[in-house]
Amino acid sequence: MRIAVIPGDGIGKEVMDSALAVLGELDLGLEFEFYEAGDEALKKYGKALPDETLEACKKSDAVLFGAAGETAADVIVRLRQELETYANVRPARAIRGVKCLYPGLDIVIVRENTECLYKGWEFQSDGSAFTIRLITERASERIARFAFELARREGRKKVTALHKANVMKKTCRIFRDACRRVAKEYGEIAFNEYYIDAACMYLVMDPFRFDVIVTTNMFGDIVSDLAAGLVGGLGIAPSANIGEKVSIFEPVHGAAFDIAGKGIANPTAMILTSAMMLRHLGFIDEAKKVEMAVEETIANGKTTPDLGGKLKTIEFTREVIRTLKELK
Ligand code: NAI
Ligand code: MG
Repeated sequence: MRIAVIPGDGIGKEVMDSALAVLGELDLGLEFEFYEAGDEALKKYGKALPDETLEACKKSDAVLFGAAGETAADVIVRLRQELETYANVRPARAIRGVKCLYPGLDIVIVRENTECLYKGWEFQSDGSAFTIRLITERASERIARFAFELARREGRKKVTALHKANVMKKTCRIFRDACRRVAKEYGEIAFNEYYIDAACMYLVMDPFRFDVIVTTNMFGDIVSDLAAGLVGGLGIAPSANIGEKVSIFEPVHGAAFDIAGKGIANPTAMILTSAMMLRHLGFIDEAKKVEMAVEETIANGKTTPDLGGKLKTIEFTREVIRTLKELK
């Protein structure tokens, strides 16, 4: 299988090295092909997402993406749309040994990935600017169904839709009504809804009332960082962009220029992201082993500075690989 690898900018490159070192320990016959995109690509080629990179992604079996910097909208948001990876799956799961606000929390955010305010339809004239929010029945039903199917597959009990249909009466109502319709097809899974603002309070004060969250693109972007914060931060938050054809796997975090080049980025998010890719490609046992190796390492108190530890990116990666070898 051919994997298009885009390390990107900032810590994207650092955490990608770690994830590839871990994957390299598994003998899976994956071919990694490297492509450029991001702020540096823009400087070099005049395009943040060079055509060659886009074409290679379309022809690959999966895309493994690190992070882009200021060009994120032109790179990853565009890639998600070009490849029609309509479902952005963002688990927020407390890892054993990570000091966090809510040990034991295990929720999944399913974010619609192709429309909403991130469609890129922005216009400006005479001191005013407009962004058009596109919400369709088709994409709303598709993402709602994806969320319920995920709940069924993972044995989860409840799907909660987040929206603001009291204010955005047209767009959010289309989304809300689609969720309500689809919910009726899944009698064994509970369904409820909250307005996005109230949901943010509940997420901070009582996140255990959530199981699977389904929401539109921008709300999903915001609440997935919030949820990451409940379980230990962006350093451990993986994500998958699932489509009918090629899927894209990327950590929730960005290029983190504030810590880039210091060798202290936490590669956990990227390593767990690559485990999500393995699972998607059918390497279930290997995915579990990678996840166990990461958990075991962290539970033994070996962590990077964001989790209160002292290990550098490379030292933590070595520990994960050592633990993985013991598991084999
Ligand atoms: P960010 O996600 O890069 O970082 C937010 C905070 O979390 C920073 O304090 C950072 O040090 C910390 N952090 C993130 N990942 C970490 C890790 N693996 N280990 C330890 N600490 C970690 O978001 P920010 O700072 O708002 O954006 C920085 C750049 O990244 C911007 O240029 C932005 O456009 C871009 N970005 C790209 C994304 C993408 O490519 N998917 C997503 C979000 C931001
Ligand atoms: Mg984000």
